Amino acid sequence: MVTQVEQAANAFPSWRSIPAPRRGEILFRFAELLKSQKEELAALITVEMGKLPLEAGGEVQEAIDMAYYMAGEGRRSFGQTVPSELPDKFAMSLREPVGVVAMITPWNFPVAVPSWKLLPALVLGNTVVWKPSPRTPQCAARLVELLTEAGLPAGVVNVVNGGSEVGEALVRAPQVRLVTFTGSNAVGRRVAVACAELGKRCALELGGKNAIIVLDDADLDLAVDGIVWSAFGTGGQRCTSCSRVIVHQAVRAKLTEMLVARVKQLQIGPLIDAAATQRCEEFVREAVAAGARRLTTGPTLLDNVTPAMRVAQEEIFGPVCVIIEVGSPEEAARVNNDVPYGLSSSIYTRDVNRAFVALRELTTGIVYVNAGTTGSEVQLPFGGTRGTGNGAREAGQAALDTFSEWKTVYVDYSGRLQRAQIDTSPA
Ligand code: UN1
Repeated sequence: MVTQVEQAANAFPSWRSIPAPRRGEILFRFAELLKSQKEELAALITVEMGKLPLEAGGEVQEAIDMAYYMAGEGRRSFGQTVPSELPDKFAMSLREPVGVVAMITPWNFPVAVPSWKLLPALVLGNTVVWKPSPRTPQCAARLVELLTEAGLPAGVVNVVNGGSEVGEALVRAPQVRLVTFTGSNAVGRRVAVACAELGKRCALELGGKNAIIVLDDADLDLAVDGIVWSAFGTGGQRCTSCSRVIVHQAVRAKLTEMLVARVKQLQIGPLIDAAATQRCEEFVREAVAAGARRLTTGPTLLDNVTPAMRVAQEEIFGPVCVIIEVGSPEEAARVNNDVPYGLSSSIYTRDVNRAFVALRELTTGIVYVNAGTTGSEVQLPFGGTRGTGNGAREAGQAALDTFSEWKTVYVDYSGRLQRAQIDTSPA
């Protein structure tokens, strides 16, 4: 681990001095290589973590999209030029790299999530030490091979393999200036504490308890499609997975009947391991003991669930989705917001006024109207409120803020002392 951090630190001065458009061209070549290797990489994802081929292809596509998007930032990465309050003075702000970035990434998106971190970090001139999940080492190795093939100089991205001890040592390594972590809330808090102690920046993505709200005027067929895809796609193992349906009482019976019919037909891919299956079963057992009713097995729907139950509060990270009945849009928003996470939420309604009220009232980082809770696009910010993170965002222009420092520059060409805030006021 020490070697990889040193390599990253040594590579930093030369990497940051390469003009950003050249760095962007390397990312562009990486995008082209990813595109040509899409099927192979998707197959590797399926082998390592069990995602179905169609979804694995989607995941690789997300990395391709991010590579093209961030390649373009090589010629943008805009700063701001603004007027000075003093005559003959020039003022602007520039993005600078942070330095050595440590990345700790999960198994559920072994290609897309690392690309959200690697690509903005690299185009901005940072170097990287990356600890991928121990479950998906080959995906990581392959991505680095492709980056190298695209022209990335040696030492700019360095992989360390290992478990939590390696992660901890990496966070604490003195040359690391910024830690970007995606994983559980419990581990994320530990990362945050270590970073606070050591005066480092950290960017955290820590899961969700996402809900789909179905109002009484919703197109129920559309809502069923969105719920089934968001709740049970990737076996419910996305941080954006829908694990709560919050439904208006007037359509609850109908929606539940339609959902049960669909879910009974549904085949999903495997979960990551036997422990994950057991965890889901424990959640379901406890909920049933507390009065919930199990409607399906395998991909599991539960109804008669109340908002305070553990199954309706904690992240499950598996194919379990609860149905909660509410009496009004206001109550739906309250139930949606009253959980420890705030990543993604969705509302199905045909009423534009209700949709806009929901946009205002739902306190998650991502809100969908008439679409499920998954399916973020790379050119918009990704992240959430409350226990989902610490305010940092990935993807979109926001990712540039996560992976850079602002440098503010003043150039005084008046040839005399000009005192800000003093020489500016009228005499
Ligand atoms: C994750 O689950 O960690 O919106 C990321 C989505 C995907 C990203 C999920 N674009 O579901």
